[in-house]
Amino acid sequence: EKVIYISRHGQSEMNVKDIIGGNGYLSPSGVEYGEKLGDFIANHIDQEKTRFVTSSMNRTRQTAKLAGLDPDQINDLDEIDAGDFDGLSYGEVKCRYPSEYEARKADKLNYRYPNGESYVDLLKRTRRAIQNVDFESCDNFLIIHQAVARCLIGILLGLSDEKVPQMEVPLHTVIKIQGSEITYHKLL
Ligand code: G3H
Repeated sequence: EKVIYISRHGQSEMNVKDIIGGNGYLSPSGVEYGEKLGDFIANHIDQEKTRFVTSSMNRTRQTAKLAGLDPDQINDLDEIDAGDFDGLSYGEVKCRYPSEYEARKADKLNYRYPNGESYVDLLKRTRRAIQNVDFESCDNFLIIHQAVARCLIGILLGLSDEKVPQMEVPLHTVIKIQGSEITYHKLL
């Protein structure tokens, strides 16, 4: 059975400030992770039989570059679109748009950001990305985003959609999925 490796990008400038969305670059700690990821791949991954994939965003591409990779880019793996809230911090949303904040908390799966996406939308987009990647033809190593990783793991493991938005996907950790088996390699 083919192996699928999933990593979030290294910690980004937005992660540090608790900002939703954006298209920024990595923090110093995120840069360190990119380098560590390169070592992990050199030591554990057969690069001949592995396809490397990122989203089209700066933080995943920077992570791949630091790891010495030249991956394919798939727009359908970009992070959930926070619409009008892109670039705000979670604290700002809570204080300026309390009813939106509460609506999301009450139903994170179905809640759609104003002019943006919901997890239901993102699940659809992630399924489309998977179909285009054809996971059975070789091993795959994806450098993506937290919300997309939640969707992908949920789809691969056959979890219920309700579980997807709540899943914990840690930074600086390579996740390996083979069949129904999932293992975590914390690098930093
Ligand atoms: O910035 C987007 C986050 O990776 C998604 O987190 O859906 O839990 O707000 P959230």
